[in-house]
Amino acid sequence: MDVIFTRRSVRRYKKQVVEQEKIEKLLKAGMQAPSAANQQPWEFIVVQKQENLDKLAGISAYSKMVADAPLAIVLVGNEDRMRLQLHWEQDMAAATQNILLEAAHLGLGAVWLGVAPIKERMDYISELYGLKKRLKPFCVISIGYPEEGQENKFVDRYDPDRVHNETY
Ligand SMILES: Cc1cc2nc3c(=O)[nH]c(=O)nc-3n(C[C@H](O)[C@H](O)[C@H](O)COP(=O)(O)O)c2cc1C
Repeated sequence: MDVIFTRRSVRRYKKQVVEQEKIEKLLKAGMQAPSAANQQPWEFIVVQKQENLDKLAGISAYSKMVADAPLAIVLVGNEDRMRLQLHWEQDMAAATQNILLEAAHLGLGAVWLGVAPIKERMDYISELYGLKKRLKPFCVISIGYPEEGQENKFVDRYDPDRVHNETY
């Protein structure tokens, strides 16, 4: 699967709208992820309006690119959907990675912006959308067509020293 190797965090985008069909594919990829006991705790807020992207960019000093992106997806874990009340962050991370890989596959660029478990970032999003307590903001993905020179590309990270055969 080439996109596993070529996906990069893309933080600068063309002024080009992401097509609705592609947004649906990103969401489908997210919802296809594995989850503990198949609890699928995820919900997604799709953000495309400039004023809302501007507000979302205020999560942290490291999220400013959202204001210049045509699209962001906020991933939220819903406690009412959690059968285990456990592992929800792993479930959400799997959904996030699926979306990042699908974005690369569709010729888009994206970056994962960390929210949970940092309380002030979670509170920022909860207040922005008036989320009830049982909805847990997990992360934001900033998405768009990569600006020239910002495209996904392979970086070799394979390190045989990290591999331990049979024993450590
Ligand atoms: C949990 C998590 C939180 C992250 N938060 C941010 C962030 O707030 N801002 C940002 O620009 N990149 C963020 N990133 C992206 C990482 O900086 C990036 O994945 C890393 O530098 C490796 O680069 P690559 O994605 O191009 O392989 C985050 C990634 C993860 C997995």
